[in-house]
Amino acid sequence: MATEAASKSTRSRSKGGENGKSSGSTGALIGAAAAGVAVGLMANLGRKAAVQAPTMLAGDWDEALAAEHQATLKLFDAMQATTDKNTTKRSMLLMQLKHALAKHAIEEENAVYPALRDAGQTEEADHLNHDHGYVKQFLYDLDNMPKDSPAFMTKVGEFRRAVEEHVREEEDTIFPKLKAKLSPEQNKALTAAMNKEGFKLA
Ligand SMILES: [Fe+2]
Ligand SMILES: [Fe+2]
Repeated sequence: MATEAASKSTRSRSKGGENGKSSGSTGALIGAAAAGVAVGLMANLGRKAAVQAPTMLAGDWDEALAAEHQATLKLFDAMQATTDKNTTKRSMLLMQLKHALAKHAIEEENAVYPALRDAGQTEEADHLNHDHGYVKQFLYDLDNMPKDSPAFMTKVGEFRRAVEEHVREEEDTIFPKLKAKLSPEQNKALTAAMNKEGFKLA
């Protein structure tokens, strides 16, 4: 009994000793993990900055969004250059379109459209927001269609026309009207707010 207790106490002492040692190495491990997380976060921030860079470098909010419109139409060009056999490429391009349009929608819906409403362009903002709902509808429908069917490409064509019409309204009338109403400081603030939103999804 006594021997057992003694051996227990030795075990617990030695356990304590190990614990002391292991808490040191646990600390080091946590430190290393934290450093790893920090490096990962930095790398992720770097990646995000790289994704948002073309938009940030394009200039004011309206020029930046116009640059994204052009990039989106290039993705449509690439999609429309595929054949019914290029199913993997179609899936990849659809994924890219989804990401580009999601980031673009966040930038507009979380910054530019609220600024439109604040400037009295409520109906226009609501109309544009309504279009964005149908962008998601097209993406959902295309996602659920066989990529080798001719109907897929017909849908892509309809989608492109809808996006082009939406882009024309934004670039030709609605955005220039807002830009002219805002002071240089307000335009600068809107550019910063738009990039901040884009960075979230970059
Ligand atoms: Fe839009
Ligand atoms: Fe847009």
